[in-house]
Amino acid sequence: MTSSNPYLSGVASKTGYRARLPDDNGFIDWPDQDNATWQTLMQRQLGMLEGRVCQEYLDGLERLALPEDRIPQLADIDRVLHAATGWQTAQVPALIPFDTFFELLANRRFPVATFIRTPEELDYLKEPDIFHEIFGHCPMLTNPAFAEFTATYGRLGLAAEPKERVYLARLYWMTVEFGLVDTPAGRRIYGGGIISSPKETLHALSDVPEHFPFDPIEALRTPYRIDILQPLYYVLDDLSRLHELSQQDIMSMVHRAMELGLHEPRFEPAPKKAAKA
Ligand SMILES: [Fe+2]
Repeated sequence: MTSSNPYLSGVASKTGYRARLPDDNGFIDWPDQDNATWQTLMQRQLGMLEGRVCQEYLDGLERLALPEDRIPQLADIDRVLHAATGWQTAQVPALIPFDTFFELLANRRFPVATFIRTPEELDYLKEPDIFHEIFGHCPMLTNPAFAEFTATYGRLGLAAEPKERVYLARLYWMTVEFGLVDTPAGRRIYGGGIISSPKETLHALSDVPEHFPFDPIEALRTPYRIDILQPLYYVLDDLSRLHELSQQDIMSMVHRAMELGLHEPRFEPAPKKAAKA
């Protein structure tokens, strides 16, 4: 994990994507191609949710009533989120510093970089686009336990030292991005990194990865790679566990995890970038 982890900075982009800026009324005039990409992604993922994602996500999705044929305007998302949990989105144009990211979360603003992936990168892109942020995360932000935990994470991150932030980032990764939850109906997905990826949606609930009962200290100690299907997931016994966790002393857990050190990675190291000639 480096400070350039795009999932954590919540912004774009080192690979050529440019956020579209809103006009004075906050409106973004999306080109037809971008709306068509949204439609393709929406239709593909909607067909995969049943029996795989948790009811709280589905309830949030229903409240948001996202359009299928065009990228939603952030003001429409904000009205629903604000009424539900006091959250809103924050349009971000490009890279934002970590301090800004944590500050936004602490103030219940979820950063959304306003660009969408190109058709060539429909299946995977390294940086989070508007589809990931809106479709992946915003339905869960209507859930009070998830909303509270995410705001707590922002508050803690803002006050944390860089070394502590690296640990906190793993907790975010293993919950907000790649969390699973057990429900009376069976094991379900609530992490936005899974929900916005068709491949990971299938992989996460298959018998390929390992599943462990959620334990915050274990999650804090678990290294990850952003560019592979996750080899392991932590499973909450109930979403209310996130609310409980947000009332606990997470920074003490971070310090305990730092004392204990990292677990061995369950993946090969990321390929080294070719040296510049
Ligand atoms: Fe994300």
